[in-house]
Amino acid sequence: MTSANNNTFSSNLGAILAAVGSAVGLGNVWRFPYICGKYGGGAFLLIYLLFVFLLGGTMMMAEFIMGRHTHHTPSQALPMLAPQHKGWRFVGHFGVLVTFVTLSLYWVISGWTTSYLTDAATGTLTHLGATTDAVTNYFNSFASSTWHPLVFLLVFGLIAMAVIMGGVRNGIEAVSKILMPLLVLLLLALCVYALSMPGSAKGLSYLLLPDFSKINAEAVLAALGQALFSLSVGIGMMIVYGGYIPNEDNLLKTTIWITLSDSIIAILSGIAIFPAVFSCGMEPAEGAGLVFKVLPVVFNSMGAVGQYVSIAFFLLLVMAALTSAISLLEFLCVWLTEVSGIRRPLSAIICTAASLAVAVVLSLSNGILGHITIMGRNLFDLTDLLSGTYMFPLCALGLCIFFGWEMSPDDIRDELSNHGTLRIPYYPALMFLIRYIVPLALIVVIVSGML
Ligand code: PHE
Repeated sequence: MTSANNNTFSSNLGAILAAVGSAVGLGNVWRFPYICGKYGGGAFLLIYLLFVFLLGGTMMMAEFIMGRHTHHTPSQALPMLAPQHKGWRFVGHFGVLVTFVTLSLYWVISGWTTSYLTDAATGTLTHLGATTDAVTNYFNSFASSTWHPLVFLLVFGLIAMAVIMGGVRNGIEAVSKILMPLLVLLLLALCVYALSMPGSAKGLSYLLLPDFSKINAEAVLAALGQALFSLSVGIGMMIVYGGYIPNEDNLLKTTIWITLSDSIIAILSGIAIFPAVFSCGMEPAEGAGLVFKVLPVVFNSMGAVGQYVSIAFFLLLVMAALTSAISLLEFLCVWLTEVSGIRRPLSAIICTAASLAVAVVLSLSNGILGHITIMGRNLFDLTDLLSGTYMFPLCALGLCIFFGWEMSPDDIRDELSNHGTLRIPYYPALMFLIRYIVPLALIVVIVSGML
């Protein structure tokens, strides 16, 4: 980051919250259930968790170390860490590209969420009743319409830009200190309710009983991509956040907290959604609209409280989306400021405008631009696949080779041990993982998934 990056958070909690704010978002509640449903449930969940803790957690540590050591975005941090090989900065630039693509997609889903919040508040959702067909038709015609999703994605984008420009980010993080636990509580309540719906047991066993016959190389790659996407890891985002972490914080503990909370929220979303999917007689492989087609049915079957629950749920989800979108936008802004020297407000406007322009095209590709398809997919589905499944693992591969083989082990040990004040018995294991296991696993999964 710029020299302004000296503003570390005052407490460990502040730094953790900021990173959790980035990690917990639509990836947990919207993307995890839809991808898990697409690739067969329980076995996917197991592989996903393995990747989260083994690869995702390790990568997160590596990114934190690079970030806290340099206080710069990847494009500058990498050449700084290995001055003899400046070419590595392209891995940093690739991370910026992935961030841009991810943000453009994120605007669209955030727009859906915001629109569903207003629909919940005005009673539009309630009027659909607890019938699967009505709710599904509503989603399909909404997502494929021209103006309705556009208005909401633009509103959401402008709010995020205002937060970045107004410097109220810390305020947002303080608010999420209350909202994140509330989201967990509400998800828990939804889990209990969903499990009480008739026929829900099938959904639970779909999520928890692994059936490995449904797993192929493509599913394994999707699990890897989802693990990295959900943790906001692999593209250098946590290098930026590493710069915010106070010097006396224990990076291992910070990583464990973030990884645990992120995966708990994803699992809870699964437990809230799959029982309901089966109870409503829907297909788990419904695609990107899954959550938006299932949850309103659940809310509407609750009776009078359903509307309040749905307002609370979509409000919390909008907030979770906002903290993630802000982190993506912040990354782009800081990068642009760093490479071009333009002032921060202008860079916020440029990054928002450019990503929103792409988001408009992606949104329209669910409707009037639906005839444009590549490899049988419209632009929206293709972008989601490219970003969430291919680009995160590829960029992570670059970052982890750089970290394991280019960064000085002395610097790594120094940063991990907080300049010798912490014992780090796990150091050799971490280095073994990051030098051999993680890159090998990434290469095997990426190559076989692509073939
Ligand atoms: N992890 C976020 C989510 O789960 C998405 C994200 C990815 C945010 C990468 C920032 C960087 O929704």
